[in-house]
Amino acid sequence: MHSIKEQKNNNVFPPDFQWGVATSAFQLEGSPNADWTTWDPVLGDFPQITNHYDEFREDLKLLKDLGANSYRFSLEWSRIQPRPDTWDYEAIAHYQEIIDILRAYNIEPMVTLHHFTHPRWFLERSPWHRTTSIEKFLRYTEMMVSTLKNVRYWITFNEPYVVLIGGYLDGCMPPGLKDVPRSLVALKNIFTCHGKAYDIIHNYVPDARVSVAHNMSVFAPWKNWNPLDRLLKKSANYFYNHSIINAFQTGIFIVKFPFSRPVEIEVPIKDKLDFFGVNYYTRIHLRFNPFKKMGVELRYLDREGHGLTNIGWEVHPRGLAKVLRYASRLNLPLIITENGIASHDTEQKVKFMKQHVDVVERCLKNGLDVRGYYYWTLIDNYEWLQGLDARFGLYRVDFKTLKRSPTSAATYYAYLIQSRSRI
Ligand code: GAL
Repeated sequence: MHSIKEQKNNNVFPPDFQWGVATSAFQLEGSPNADWTTWDPVLGDFPQITNHYDEFREDLKLLKDLGANSYRFSLEWSRIQPRPDTWDYEAIAHYQEIIDILRAYNIEPMVTLHHFTHPRWFLERSPWHRTTSIEKFLRYTEMMVSTLKNVRYWITFNEPYVVLIGGYLDGCMPPGLKDVPRSLVALKNIFTCHGKAYDIIHNYVPDARVSVAHNMSVFAPWKNWNPLDRLLKKSANYFYNHSIINAFQTGIFIVKFPFSRPVEIEVPIKDKLDFFGVNYYTRIHLRFNPFKKMGVELRYLDREGHGLTNIGWEVHPRGLAKVLRYASRLNLPLIITENGIASHDTEQKVKFMKQHVDVVERCLKNGLDVRGYYYWTLIDNYEWLQGLDARFGLYRVDFKTLKRSPTSAATYYAYLIQSRSRI
């Protein structure tokens, strides 16, 4: 039983609100041909991670048991196109089967084309800082959109800024570079792909709904009295939350790194969005520190007593309202494409979910056009920089036996969905 009191009636969630769960293919199933497979030594011992590639039918039943009406998942490009000139039709049929099962369960699929991983050949021959990346990604996109049936919701890129920061500035993700000029070329190429993929998808699926899933964050100065910390907060906010929204409105990215001149990059993405996908997790405190990379040190601080997660992130529910309000300047439907917590303590997970869904409820009451909430994630999985112990799942996975067991967060999410779907 949950110790949390529920409010009844006054349901503001519209009947077609998308109650979903989000996953990504690589984090559940690995892939022999992906760049990350050899990037992280942890995967040497767990190449199939949860073995979802074989057990997907059972996992989709878990999703159905929750009562979710939507499911966001990704296609593992490196399984589909293991070599530049080879399409693996069995892999494509595999993902089509997922879609067919979802449709049979009355669950709306939302398909992500790119969720961090690449085929190894792509990174070796046409990484994002080369112009050939565009043609390669669009070929893959067209192949998927022309082949997969019954998909209306498409996410082109999951967290493109994370790909750029992790892969090109911080070096903690493939291709592992720390190279500002190349990061700007990669940004142009990735968003050019989004713009063109948007058109390709609409050519094949006229009533498609297309977006990116952008991670929005709340930033705060580490020390409020310090003007440099405040300046960093402003710059981070501008870059993370504002520059992308502005680019979708104008077709121009304005990249301003602290203490340097702004760079303008033209990209063909003006109005190439049908909704805006927001991934939201936490608030980040920033401090100016000349001994750190780019002069920035970041921390997660438990300033309001909501606690930190198992991977140290601050739980900051009202930040969700803040980013949604900010994103609403796009005048488009908003979908929370990811929100979740890494915790071994399932009561903490339940509380996190309740607090964030309460915020969504308040946003709806205040007139924001929020159309969906996707909890991250269905079952415990591989978490990019934290390996196998981050525990975001509604269902717990024992990585030795691969057995899935429900946590009380699964029961609670099912209850939430049911009670909020009541008319
Ligand atoms: C997001 C990412 C997911 C997942 C989640 C939890 O940034 O899209 O793949 O890892 O964070 O950290």
